[in-house]
Amino acid sequence: KTLDVDPDAYDAGEHESFMHKEILEQPAAAERVMRGRLNDRFATGHLGGLNLDARELRAIRRVKVLGCGSAYYVGEMGATLIEELARIPASAEAASEFRYRNPIIEPDTLYVAVSQSGETIDTLLAVQEIRRKGGRVIGLVNVVGSAIAREVDGGIYLHAGPEVAVASTKALTNMFLGFAMLALQLGRVRDLSIADGRRLIAGLNALPGKIEQVLATEERLEAIAERLAAAESLFFVGRVRGFPVAREGAQKFKEISYRHAEAYQTSELKHGPLALISPAVPTVAIVPDDELVERNVAALHEIAARGGPLVVVTHDDVELQGLDAERVVVPRTERELDPILLTIPLQLLAYHAAKHLGHDIDKPRNLAKSVTVE
Ligand code: AGP
Repeated sequence: KTLDVDPDAYDAGEHESFMHKEILEQPAAAERVMRGRLNDRFATGHLGGLNLDARELRAIRRVKVLGCGSAYYVGEMGATLIEELARIPASAEAASEFRYRNPIIEPDTLYVAVSQSGETIDTLLAVQEIRRKGGRVIGLVNVVGSAIAREVDGGIYLHAGPEVAVASTKALTNMFLGFAMLALQLGRVRDLSIADGRRLIAGLNALPGKIEQVLATEERLEAIAERLAAAESLFFVGRVRGFPVAREGAQKFKEISYRHAEAYQTSELKHGPLALISPAVPTVAIVPDDELVERNVAALHEIAARGGPLVVVTHDDVELQGLDAERVVVPRTERELDPILLTIPLQLLAYHAAKHLGHDIDKPRNLAKSVTVE
């Protein structure tokens, strides 16, 4: 069985679809999830619902994130943030796989279950398995009072508001922000400095306005999306912080446009998939201005040399060394927070490709809003 949200029970107002409405709601939703949860004085996150005091937070030696589909990809972004800010080993895994390998549950690991609906059966069963073995689980959940929210030891409600479209957007953004606040709190009971804490809080507070700036580029993204929609197959590539962004971008694109979209690490292209590059196969590349930017640009030149059309999601002043590419610009933020701004244009690319192809955007074929049986 699957759980379908009945779009008739909600009002899309003047919007042509719920997905579009939910994409545009992101600045407001982002503000909501952060409200009252950032402590300026101590430059830390203030997440009361975790039910963990400072001593317990310090005792955590590992973080394991579990979720399905897009929640899993945001979980990968979250694990990276936790490693960067708190220097605790962290990784994400598909909840649908976790349970089947008799996982080792450690007492000093914090398990984090991520779910918009709070009803996804694979995530719920993973939570139950961890708790059965005595592990501690917190939830990043949108729907209040849902099965996962009831099952966990504590957590962060996402306050994204009802999400009706099958393709998740605003809930994912708030998941990322939930992870950022968690990483900040874990970092500040360890070695993250007060200056870095302040830098990140300022970055987080500025994000809603920067998301707004990305949304303002919709017309240009629509034109690019129409061209991408003509391709049968696409690559989405990125590295380190950018790779889960590429995975999420490919997921969103295939979910509603029904085009084959494959995510790959930019660094791995030369180990195989470069053979597929041709004028018929466009690549959407995620290129934040980080320590990998030059290597990233060099790899993109390899794609261009084989005639592969390129869309590069980056900042306005990143030097592309004469690359023949369409540049999609996102504002600069703190490097650790880049993934969320890089994700927003990919939502609009998927949305406009699907719209151009005439698909049912809110209820794509073969999919339900949440999968409640195995
Ligand atoms: C997202 O666009 C997808 N529809 C899907 O991958 C979704 O994120 C996944 O099924 C998990 O759902 P949940 O967040 O409700 O647990």
